[in-house]
Amino acid sequence: MDKTSIIQKTEEYVKEKLKGDHTGHDWQHIKRVRDNALHIAKRENADLLVVELVALLHDIADWKFHGGDDSAGPKLAGEWLELLNAESDVINHVCGIIKEVSFKGAGVKSNIKTKEGMAVQDADRLDAMGAVGIARVFMYGGYKGIEMHDPEIKPKMHESFDDYKSSKSTCINHFYEKLLLLKDLMNTETGREMAEERHRFMEEYLKRFLEDVGGKNKKVH
Ligand code: NI
Repeated sequence: MDKTSIIQKTEEYVKEKLKGDHTGHDWQHIKRVRDNALHIAKRENADLLVVELVALLHDIADWKFHGGDDSAGPKLAGEWLELLNAESDVINHVCGIIKEVSFKGAGVKSNIKTKEGMAVQDADRLDAMGAVGIARVFMYGGYKGIEMHDPEIKPKMHESFDDYKSSKSTCINHFYEKLLLLKDLMNTETGREMAEERHRFMEEYLKRFLEDVGGKNKKVH
């Protein structure tokens, strides 16, 4: 099958698979990640087919929804690409990146090694930042039944993936445990530039949130 058909078929497959998602990992998330990943990849001279396939397939079976199993995603992606008769080195590269692309805790080092992986990881992380990132935190929190805010629960810097996945926290803590760390974890120069403003906006948002809950912005009647 030629490259255009592989992309087209994969797009249809992913759209169908993520239909009705209300966890913040819907088709629009995939589209944004694909657009940003391709933008970064072009600047980095990365292989655009691999980048586009990873962006499309990276959330079809995320560990967050598969009992913490981070091999479910690459396995499903591999089976799909084999069905399309994609080249084996493309399949291996795509699956290798999908296994490593997601955030696994503040103290857990990412194993992304290729330009293609770096482009998609940056794009996926950009979508967890800024106005969209803020919306997605609360959407995911609602889905998971995670509290919005509890000043008694302090943020935790997770040192292992097991620790990160089993941790019970709050939506606001998620900013400190992940989202505010992303700017400095960007792999590419383009990603870093794009992350700046989104990071600043989240800081501003948190400042306002904490002022509001702290009562400083209460209206005086
Ligand atoms: Ni994603």
